[in-house]
Parts: sequence; C-alpha cells; structure tokens
Amino acid sequence: MEASNQVSEFVIFIGRFHPLIVHLPIGILLIGILMHFLAKKKRFQYLDKAVSFTLAIGSISAILSCFLGYLLSFQGGYDADALFNHQWLGIAVGCFSLLAYSTRVWKKTRKSFVLNSIAMGILFIGLGLTGHLGGNLTHGSAYLTQYAPEPIRKIIGLAPKPKKRPPIMVLDSADIFLDVINPMVSNKCISCHNLEKTKGGLLLTSHASMLEGGENGPAIVAEDLQKSELFKRITLPEHHEDFMPPEGKKPFSEDDIKLIEFWILNGARPTGLLADIELDEDNTKLFENFLGLKDSQNNPLLADAEAGDSLVIRSLRSKGFKIESLSNESNLLDVSLSPNNIKGLESIEELLLLKDQIVHLKLSSLGLKDNNLKVIGQLNHLIRLNLHSNPITDSGISFLSELQNLESLNLYGTQIENKSLELLSTLKNLKRLYVWNTKVTKAKVEAFKNSRTDLDIIFGLALFIVKE
Ligand code: HEC
Repeated sequence: MEASNQVSEFVIFIGRFHPLIVHLPIGILLIGILMHFLAKKKRFQYLDKAVSFTLAIGSISAILSCFLGYLLSFQGGYDADALFNHQWLGIAVGCFSLLAYSTRVWKKTRKSFVLNSIAMGILFIGLGLTGHLGGNLTHGSAYLTQYAPEPIRKIIGLAPKPKKRPPIMVLDSADIFLDVINPMVSNKCISCHNLEKTKGGLLLTSHASMLEGGENGPAIVAEDLQKSELFKRITLPEHHEDFMPPEGKKPFSEDDIKLIEFWILNGARPTGLLADIELDEDNTKLFENFLGLKDSQNNPLLADAEAGDSLVIRSLRSKGFKIESLSNESNLLDVSLSPNNIKGLESIEELLLLKDQIVHLKLSSLGLKDNNLKVIGQLNHLIRLNLHSNPITDSGISFLSELQNLESLNLYGTQIENKSLELLSTLKNLKRLYVWNTKVTKAKVEAFKNSRTDLDIIFGLALFIVKE
C-alpha cells in the first residue's frame, strides 16, 4: 500500500516488534489468571501474593502490544475487516487486563472477587480470540486448519479436503477441468474468490460456483465467450480497471487463456477426459505443455531426421502397423501395432529400415517374446517404448541396453523380475518406468528409487496406465 511511503520507515521498523512483544501479555496474563484461580486452593495459597504483580506487568505489556500493533498497521496490506476485529479485540484485552488488575487491588470484598473473576474469565477468552485473529492476519485464515485431520475438519465444519489428483503421465488420462482449468484458476484467482473472501460476490472454488458467478451474473457460460464474465476479465487490456487478476498479481499467460477459451467453447464441462475430446495439433501441444508432458523436448534426436523410406512405410502399414509423423513438419515417427493386427509381428524386422525415424513405439498385448526384443533393441532412436502386457522376461530386457535415448518404458503386465531393473539402470535417459503387475518386488523398487532419483518408477495400480 501507499501508506508505507507516507509514514516514516522508522514507525514500521518499531511496529514490526509487535509479533514478538505480543507473546508477553499472552504468557504473563495467562499465568496471572491461572494463579488467581489456583490460589483459592490451600495448597497454592502462596501464589495469591504474586497475582496482582503479574497482572500489572501483563497489562503494561498488553498496552505496549496494542501500541506496536497500531504502528504495524501502517505497513498496510491487511484485510480491513480482519484488521478491525483484531485491533479492537486487542484494545479490549488491554482494558480488561487493567480491569482485572484494579478490581483485585482495589478492595477485597466478595463482590470485588466475583467482578474480578468475571474480568479474568473474559480476559482469558479475549486473549485466545485476539491471538487467533492476529495469527490469521499474518498467516491467512486457512493456516491453522490446512493440515487438520479429517475428523477435526468435520467438527469445525470444514469441507473434506479435496483429494489430490494422481500425477498425469499421458495426455489422454488428464481431466480437462480437474487437471487443467481448476488448478489454473485456483492458482491465480482463489486468493480473492474463496469462501472467506468472496470479492465481487464471486466464488471460484468449484465448477458450480463458476457457473453461478457473482454480482454481474455467471462467470462462465458454456460455448459463449462474450457472456463469460471470467473470460472477458482475463482478456481485457492489462491496465483496464476490470482486468483480473487485479494489478500486481501475475496474469494468465497467453497459453493459459487459450486453454480456458478451448474449455469454454467445448461446453465448459465439469469433468471429462482429454481422451474423449477432439484435440487438434495446436491444442494437443498446449495441453501437453501445461501438464508438463514434454519430457522429450530437449532431446537432440527431435531436431529431426531424414524422411523415412515411403515404400517401407507403405509396406508396414499394409501389414497393420499404424505409422504417424510426430507433427506436420517432422519426419520422426510414432509407430504402433494393435492386438487386432497381431500377424504384423511377422514383419517386425522391417522396422529396422526406419530406425532413424522411429521415436515412439507401442507394441502392447501382442504376445511379444524375448526374441522379438532383439529387433526392438536395435531401434536406438526410441524415446518412448510401450511393451505392456506381453510375456517378456528379464532375458528379453537384456536386449534393450543400447536404447540410450529411451525416456519412457512401459513394462506393466510383463513377466520381468528384479533383475530387469539392474539391466535397465544403464539407460541414463530413462525418466519413467512402468513396472506395475510384474514380478518386480516393492522392496527392489524402493531401493532402486534411491539410487536413481531422476527416474519415476510407476509401481502402483493406476488406471491411466491401462488406458495407454
Ligand atoms: C487481489 C484480489 C483478486 C484476485 C487475485 C482476483 N480477483 Fe476477481 N475480483 C476482485 C474484486 C475486488 C472484484 C470486485 C470488483 C470488480 O468487479 O472488479 C472481483 C471481481 C471479479 C469478477 C466479476 C464478478 C462479478 O460478477 O461482478 C470476475 C469474473 C473475477 N473477479 C474473476 C477473477 C479471476 C478469473 C481471477 C484470477 C485470474 C481473479 N478474479 C482474481 C479481486 C480479485
């Protein structure tokens, strides 16, 4: 806030001692209150003499804290309502500590004892509340409950914690809202559009609340960018007063905006797998980038290769191989053979003629034998290899040791054992290895993970692997 320019820095320097000093009245007054009540018991009667002194020191430190807190408030940047509450409760605590002190030293009658005990009780509650609100001011109101266990969240009326989404390994398994739009909006917008702070009457915490919108109507209208207030606000010129997020906060990138636009134009669904949504090449790239699925981007191989022999490509296609370029401008190839075309395996050696071009290969559920891997092991430009659900064993894996460009290897549902991990440890570029549902043991995976921290070993049952 501007205030810091007008108020001398020294004021703020002194004010920043507030969070330190404020612990004094809390501790001192609490011990005073405790001693006051304990002293009624015979055993602790001796404490009685110290109560007044403790309350006096406590009151002085409380008043000092109020003063320092007031100075600190010039620093600005606090939510005005929250500051107001904390400030006045703090001042009330100061007053009640004085009242507790004076009713005690004033005159010892039964009445003054009752009055004194009431003051002490209120002081006790006031201390707790003020401290809590002060904590919220500095750390945010979610700070205390953020890691609360589920039963406690229930008791204090918080919604159950949202389940963490599993990491996305393949584009198809990403959910357009849950994995893309929602995290994006949460990240940039939720600090002002949540249950506690609902700026503009708008909640952006769920799909439903986005559709519902705020004071000016729905924030999202499916297939209508013009009527989607949210989209309008994020695409205004950055210095427009209605631009979101407001000045000072990092706006959405162009790519983010394209993704939101795509989502709205495609029905603004609350959920839906990308596998079920038609994506053109540009959109595929946008989603892949957003989801961090572009491992291979830095691979020098992707600089490109000469075009593969078109006769070979045609011949392989006629045998059932699906062969696609990675992109329009690229000669690199993505090759796969579906289980329906299992006869194509007889021509597997022909793949060697496209050795320089094939970077992705998928030969899953084809009854592939260890022997077949001799051929695959020579396709040393491979970056992604998917061999899931084939009866391959460790001896087949030993043929893969030359695939030094390999980044992702899917071996789920094969017969491999622990030895395969040793064999694969020579593949320095390997980043993802799927070994779920094999004979590899959990202990081995854990040990291996420690020696290859750069390698993501996917060992658990994960539906998205089955999909690929
Ligand atoms: C720093 C706080 C802050 C952040 C962060 C923020 N907003 Fe806002 N937003 C406001 C305030 C204040 C208003 C009400 C004033 C106004 O309408 O401009 C508002 C209003 C809106 C409205 C209009 C609601 C209505 O119906 O009037 C939309 C839409 C909106 N914000 C979207 C967003 C989006 C999207 C983001 C994330 C990119 C975002 N906001 C981030 C403070 C914020």
